[in-house]
Amino acid sequence: MKGLILSGGKGTRLYPLTYTSAKQLIPIANRPVLVRVIEAIRDAGITEIGLVVGDTAPEIERVVKQGTQWGVNITYIRQESPLGLAHAVKISQDFLGDERFVMFLGDNVIQGGISPLIGKFAESGYNAQVVLTRVDQPQQYGVAELGADKRIIRLVEKPKDPPSDLALVGIYMFDPHIFEAVNSIAPSWRGELEITDAIQWLIEHQYNVHPYIHTGWWIDTGRPGDMLTANSLALEELTPVIEGYVDRESEVDSRVTVERGAEIINSVVRGPAIIGQDTRLVNAYVGPFTSIYHHCLIENAEISRSIVLEYSQICNVGHRIEDSLIGRHVVVQRSPMRPRAYKFTLGDHSQLGLVGEGA
Ligand code: DAU
Repeated sequence: MKGLILSGGKGTRLYPLTYTSAKQLIPIANRPVLVRVIEAIRDAGITEIGLVVGDTAPEIERVVKQGTQWGVNITYIRQESPLGLAHAVKISQDFLGDERFVMFLGDNVIQGGISPLIGKFAESGYNAQVVLTRVDQPQQYGVAELGADKRIIRLVEKPKDPPSDLALVGIYMFDPHIFEAVNSIAPSWRGELEITDAIQWLIEHQYNVHPYIHTGWWIDTGRPGDMLTANSLALEELTPVIEGYVDRESEVDSRVTVERGAEIINSVVRGPAIIGQDTRLVNAYVGPFTSIYHHCLIENAEISRSIVLEYSQICNVGHRIEDSLIGRHVVVQRSPMRPRAYKFTLGDHSQLGLVGEGA
């Protein structure tokens, strides 16, 4: 079997973090989502992986390279614009040939990996297998309607009036019949070739499409809130290690990972949390469900349930920072200069929550 990862698209829902960078490279518990996807496919025994990329290709190639670091062999497939998940399959036909394959959306994080799913598909005669899970807001996803015999009757993409609460997880397994399907469907109302329509085509043409119900957690990291949730869930599963330096004045509880070269000076860290390589905490408090990536500085400040990306600094901030997603090379600090006013340099679509006196 081969693997196909979709990492094109624009990531507009994660602006401003994704103006200049790929959403699939945002780290969850200090490991980029895309790296988690590559490892999940490799752990299922698949090493030939096609990676569909769009405008953010240079950044992705810089991080992933040929994949040797993870023991896989990556072939890049350039998609000129995000014309849909089925379009991505269509342009990958030369790479996939006539092998069965697993397609994994590069912004999805799933608990427990995909070995059980691949095992089930490999030993079956199914033409396709889709992964379904129960969600609270099915209208945000592709949704499946199952019959009394538990077979799929119908799939609909982001329905206003969902026929069930069973969402399509972004992991699909196909045999080469999918190419007939993607070549037969027309673009949807939003101008995309939808994979949901292609799978519906398989069902209507009597191909065997098996629904696999996933019961662990699964997150489509499309929105900032989802990122923080995924981060919390992934931190809960991390096996803690202390590879950096923790001074005697600091208190670091048992569910904290301190990566190589990190320094914790006179600070308190409550897990689950991770402090990245070469990051310094000085007189700081880092609360549960926080991931601080590499080369950051948190000094005289408090932060919890947040993600801070590389090379950022948070210094001398009076109020605790919570539920926040802080980008790369960001500086948040108390300014000693008069007038005593808030001074911002915020990118387009930034969101700032101030703690007010009144209101
Ligand atoms: O996450 C699960 C959902 O993913 C499913 O429930 C939906 O049925 C499915 O259509 C998809 O919906 P999204 O709206 O979340 O897809 P999104 O546009 O975010 O794209 C998912 C990934 O695929 C993302 O990593 C970008 C990449 N992509 C997307 C498009 C449209 C491509 O590589 N090429 C594309 O043309």
